[in-house]
Amino acid sequence: MNILVLGSGGREHAIVSSLATSPRSDIIYVAPGNGGSAPGAQNVALDMMDGEAVVQFALSHDVELVVIGPEAPLVAGIANVVAKAGLAVFGPQAAGARLEGSKQFAKDLMRAHDIPTATYAVFTNKDAALAYLKDNPAPIVVKADGLAAGKGVTVATTDAEAIQAIEECFAGRFGSAGSRVVIEEMLTGPECSLLAFVDGKTMVPMVPAQDHKRALEGDKGPNTGGMGVYSPVPIVSEQEHDTMIKLMQQTVDGLIAEGIDYRGVLYGGFILTPSGPKVLEFNARFGDPETQVVLPLLQSDLLDIMLACDSATLDRWELAWSDDWALSVVLASAGYPGDYEKGKVITGIEAAEALDNVTVFHAGTRRLDDGTVVTNGGRVLNVTARGATFVEARDLAYQAVDLIDFEGKQFRRDIGQRALRV
Ligand code: AMP
Ligand code: GLY
Repeated sequence: MNILVLGSGGREHAIVSSLATSPRSDIIYVAPGNGGSAPGAQNVALDMMDGEAVVQFALSHDVELVVIGPEAPLVAGIANVVAKAGLAVFGPQAAGARLEGSKQFAKDLMRAHDIPTATYAVFTNKDAALAYLKDNPAPIVVKADGLAAGKGVTVATTDAEAIQAIEECFAGRFGSAGSRVVIEEMLTGPECSLLAFVDGKTMVPMVPAQDHKRALEGDKGPNTGGMGVYSPVPIVSEQEHDTMIKLMQQTVDGLIAEGIDYRGVLYGGFILTPSGPKVLEFNARFGDPETQVVLPLLQSDLLDIMLACDSATLDRWELAWSDDWALSVVLASAGYPGDYEKGKVITGIEAAEALDNVTVFHAGTRRLDDGTVVTNGGRVLNVTARGATFVEARDLAYQAVDLIDFEGKQFRRDIGQRALRV
């Protein structure tokens, strides 16, 4: 079966690498892809936001399954266009992707279906938002309603920060995404991501993972797309894990009650508060970098599961997971998440991959005609290692990280530190 994967991040490289191990996969096209490669994979220049172009390409290349990686095409309804053309698609249609595309929609769904989350209020008017702040002072969280590439959330520790965040949203910093603002209670506790495969009715959880959102060690500095991740997550108690799974099912049931047929990955971003897990956010896709540790631990055939999600037959499958630990360190360009330079030559990827149980997933990279790999984005590489213990996986990942070099290489040395504090 030929497959088309839309996206260009480390997440997509991990998806393609897993799909490539399926005995049923043939050519895997990646649009637009990056400098990473997998057996049988080919990059294609295709605008993933252009549904008709995606369908045309798929039909003319005997593609039978389209996998949509990032949120923007999901929210834009590319899955609707692909499904309408009669092709199998992995990723929810626009109605379901609103869970990620509108924070208000997600919050209202949670409120309507008793899913614990931070208390909140929604504003389309700046003065009303500022007035709300008077009665609900910092610490408080200000969120642009729409997609803002992970930059639309401000956890404000002072009123001045909250006021500035509100002013910026309404001044158009996030375009139309910020014309509606959600202000919510600040919750405290460790965070944990739980991703699940969903086929419209059945929800099958994956192994939990913990991302590290802040740019600098010790969880300091600005929020990023994620600087490193590990799985499983020992700080999550069995009871908390059960609660998270229950809340994921409750969400799928809530979607069904709203008439939404959700097929793809449902990503629950949880915060483990003293009064139990609460949902911080939902994403309508695989997490990045969570996928770079979760999929390497999946022993079942990803292609079978994706097709089962599309055909609503997930209840026939039982997923098998490795007992290993996996840890992934993000190597970023100097300056990320702010401005950064591109085009720096990367060395040592092959040496790192020569280590047993190490995989280097490409994110912001580009392969030149002579085979040289250069930086091409903020998050450049995701170095994933597996081990029988957490410490083994972590030490191996950093051994591999130290073999790779490029000008301005920036990363956190403390990924997974919290796993040791059990
Ligand atoms: P979101 O995109 O909504 O997940 O927010 C990005 C990050 O902001 C989360 O991973 C949290 O670290 C933080 N955050 C979001 N909402 C809250 C909240 N209500 N309380 C505390 N931290 C939050
Ligand atoms: N790692 C966070 C996300 O994918 O949204």
